Amino acid sequence: MTKTMKFRTTRRRFLAGGAAVAAAGFAPARFAIGARAPVKIGILLPYAGTYARLGENITAGFKLRVDEAGGKIGGRDVEYIQVDSEMKPPLAPEKTNKLVSGEKVDFIVGPVHSGVAMVMARIVRGENVVMVCPNAGAGALTGSMCAPNIFRTSFSNWQTSFPCGEVMIKDGHRNAVSMFWKYAAGIQMKDAFAESFTAAGGKVVREIGVPFPSVEFQAYLTEIAALRPDAVFMFFAGGGAAKVVKDYAAAGLKSRVPLYGPGFLTEGVLGAQGEAAEGVRTTLHYDNGLDNPANRRFRAAFKTAAGKEADVYAVQGYDAASLILHGMAAVGGDTGARNDLIRAMAGTTFDSPRGRFVLSKAHNPVQDFYLREVRGGRNVVLGIAHKALADPATGCNMV
Ligand code: BEZ
Repeated sequence: MTKTMKFRTTRRRFLAGGAAVAAAGFAPARFAIGARAPVKIGILLPYAGTYARLGENITAGFKLRVDEAGGKIGGRDVEYIQVDSEMKPPLAPEKTNKLVSGEKVDFIVGPVHSGVAMVMARIVRGENVVMVCPNAGAGALTGSMCAPNIFRTSFSNWQTSFPCGEVMIKDGHRNAVSMFWKYAAGIQMKDAFAESFTAAGGKVVREIGVPFPSVEFQAYLTEIAALRPDAVFMFFAGGGAAKVVKDYAAAGLKSRVPLYGPGFLTEGVLGAQGEAAEGVRTTLHYDNGLDNPANRRFRAAFKTAAGKEADVYAVQGYDAASLILHGMAAVGGDTGARNDLIRAMAGTTFDSPRGRFVLSKAHNPVQDFYLREVRGGRNVVLGIAHKALADPATGCNMV
């Protein structure tokens, strides 16, 4: 009903504005051609290397949601143009421009890597395209670089790790070491953890930055063993997370120094980590055991479509498509109605597998962060670590 009414409004407004053209017997170019042409979705994600599985699951989640909507967005067919980000910020300008200026995509979905995200955002801010970030947590995206046409369906780096510091304090730890991949994501996460941990009286005795995407962890783990902290906070994801948790156990640290981190440390990699992951505690805005109808439906559908279990990355891709579908339904598929499209996307709320999806004014999800612990080879939700957490959106001045 709403969809139909909005469609009529948009069309009537166009016809009023283009009365002279219509009277002369010409079809209104943007509406007539644009409405029939496929919606072009540019996807810039990693498909090789340590974040390959993240990129694959985001893509599968996105396509699953579009397929569930009958394979159309706003009543139009969909054309995907997929580019491998290679997780390399220096390559991001060329790859983003290829999609935005070369392919003239309507939406650009990506990336996974915070460094790539900042490059993309710098380009996209000045363009007509709408960017939907389905993973990278770079604070600036919905902070100092926020823009009407930039949306995120995942998290900010700060959101994932601020609750983790609070949990570690509640668990009685006072001296901690942080270990992380040393680029924007890892740096922002260890800072967010340190913010809540030190505010509550904790002390970070050592920060260990590992070059991205190195998986040579041994020397750092030897250092941690010598420091004997109460606990360790870690950010690694994908292939790196799978390896570091195994190396941590092999170094004899698992039974002596409890391991914590944002949920990427155990998300989608428990099969590879095996026994080594038992007892690891993480904070995340999703867990595949969440017992709600949207999650039950999503998990079953993802398993059928992709042949594997869903994870947080799949959810973020799925929700990126939901966000675009809602916006495009509101404008009857007319991507030229940019302001209406953006307004509709910003105001959208829907039942996501993670719970109710709601965006802040800066276009970043406001969401619960769960405390999980690995037990018997799966993450078990122990409770909500931080309810309805919004990113501070520092420096965001949405015009
Ligand atoms: C990031 O670079 O923002 C990121 C990558 C993997 C997992 C979480 C965050």
